[in-house]
Amino acid sequence: MQQRKYLVLLFFSVILLFQTSNGHNITRLLAKHPSLSTFNHYLTLTHLAPEINRRTTITVLALDNSAMSSLLAKKPSIYTLKNILYLHVLLDYFGARKLHQITNGTALAATMFQATGVAPGVAGFVNITDFKGGKVGFGAEDNGGSLDSFFVKSVEEIPYNISVIQISKALPSAVAEAPTPGPSELNITRIMSAHGCKVFADTLLANPEAMGTYEDNVNGGLTVFCPLDDPFKAFLPKYKNLTAARKASFLEFFGIPVYQSLSMLKSNNGIMNTLATDGASKFDFTVQNEGEEVTLKTKVNTVKITGTLIDEEPVAIYTIDKVLMPKELFKAAPTPAPAPAPEEAADAPKGSKSKSKSKSKSKAAPTPESDSPADSPDSDPADLTADDNAAVSFRGGRFAAVGLSFLLVFLLL
Ligand SMILES: *[C@@H]1O[C@H](CO)[C@@H](O)[C@H](O)[C@H]1NC(C)=O
Ligand SMILES: *[C@@H]1O[C@H](CO)[C@@H](O)[C@H](O)[C@H]1NC(C)=O
Ligand SMILES: *[C@@H]1O[C@H](CO)[C@@H](O)[C@H](O)[C@H]1NC(C)=O
Ligand SMILES: *[C@@H]1O[C@H](CO)[C@@H](O)[C@H](O)[C@H]1NC(C)=O
Ligand SMILES: *[C@@H]1O[C@H](CO)[C@@H](O)[C@H](O)[C@H]1NC(C)=O
Ligand SMILES: *[C@@H]1O[C@H](CO)[C@@H](O)[C@H](O)[C@H]1NC(C)=O
Repeated sequence: MQQRKYLVLLFFSVILLFQTSNGHNITRLLAKHPSLSTFNHYLTLTHLAPEINRRTTITVLALDNSAMSSLLAKKPSIYTLKNILYLHVLLDYFGARKLHQITNGTALAATMFQATGVAPGVAGFVNITDFKGGKVGFGAEDNGGSLDSFFVKSVEEIPYNISVIQISKALPSAVAEAPTPGPSELNITRIMSAHGCKVFADTLLANPEAMGTYEDNVNGGLTVFCPLDDPFKAFLPKYKNLTAARKASFLEFFGIPVYQSLSMLKSNNGIMNTLATDGASKFDFTVQNEGEEVTLKTKVNTVKITGTLIDEEPVAIYTIDKVLMPKELFKAAPTPAPAPAPEEAADAPKGSKSKSKSKSKSKAAPTPESDSPADSPDSDPADLTADDNAAVSFRGGRFAAVGLSFLLVFLLL
């Protein structure tokens, strides 16, 4: 009997181990701290969060909202910001206690910036020094020896895996702050104009509201499906017939707030929300492979992707052979025998994400709630779908594991 109890105990610890081996989630850890919400928001925006989640034995030097404001005031591109934030992830575990017990009072820590290979020489190392009186200073090693950012407090510690500590201000580093050319220099309408979508580009340029929405999404991820000139020209009378609000929605319908390479589109068949998606106004379409081709469908019509104008994360622009028509604005042409639309069934699984608009807003002014799990405006449709599935299967696995353990307990006792 005693032996069995040990077995049960052992089994439970194995289960426990199994469950926690999924590791930490920096987004979730930081979500508990509203004063770090901007920092958290930018970890997501720069796609740093998953890289942090993949690593263990690391320390994240978090900045509060006011320290982030000072950093953002310099208007770094998202790429520069990524390098700067890379410098704030140390590839070693420094809990509050270890910080104050550094041998000889000073240490150099390698960072993710150094690990990217972008940083030359000592750039990418952070000097940590214990000062008299228990103050701990931090400075980028390429910063001429000045240590003017200080340990504020420990935020979260998962011993030996991840430590999140708050420091007083961003670590200045000329190398990390060097302007990194990014997509913000991309002129999407110029690219479209030069490659067969001039009419669409001009129409977009003439509509500041829609143009603004596209621009807001360029840095965080944007895929555009631009109708070629001939079909769009033929469509113009219908477009001009729309009210001003509908014109903007219609133009926004050709962009999705997420980067999708062609191969991603091929493997991500399903409903896509667009830049026009807003609450009850779905303005979505279905991506579906037809052999080697990728088609976009609404209840009104189906179009084909015919070419790639640019495909460099975070921006992709494809041409489409016809003008895709949202069912919110146009009626399906009456067909003699209306076949059951395949979209109908596909409509069901996703309903609760229509945040492309608030997405662009939240980028302009990150707010604490924008990082809350219940309402994650930054998750693009595809991400959200994938995450949902992951969460579901993870939870499923967990329940299965717990169920299994109960069964075993029952059998053993
Ligand atoms: C720490 O990371 C290891 C993987 O390196 C994992 O197995 C373990 O469960 C993690 N511990 C916690 C408390 O998350
Ligand atoms: C600490 O300082 C002593 C004496 O200055 C030196 O011998 C030792 O190598 C130092 N240790 C480290 C880890 O730097
Ligand atoms: C860190 O910087 C301080 C001050 O510039 C310097 O005295 C110390 O030697 C540096 N530590 C290391 C490990 O380089
Ligand atoms: C982008 O290109 C268009 C021409 O397609 C031009 O009218 C516009 O001014 C350009 N925008 C910027 C920011 O350079
Ligand atoms: C414009 O709208 C009117 C009224 O809704 C409609 O009768 C007309 O056919 C439309 N014109 C085009 C070109 O769609
Ligand atoms: C981490 O947590 C956030 C917020 O709770 C969630 O959106 C995201 O899917 C999680 N990531 C992983 C890899 O579990």
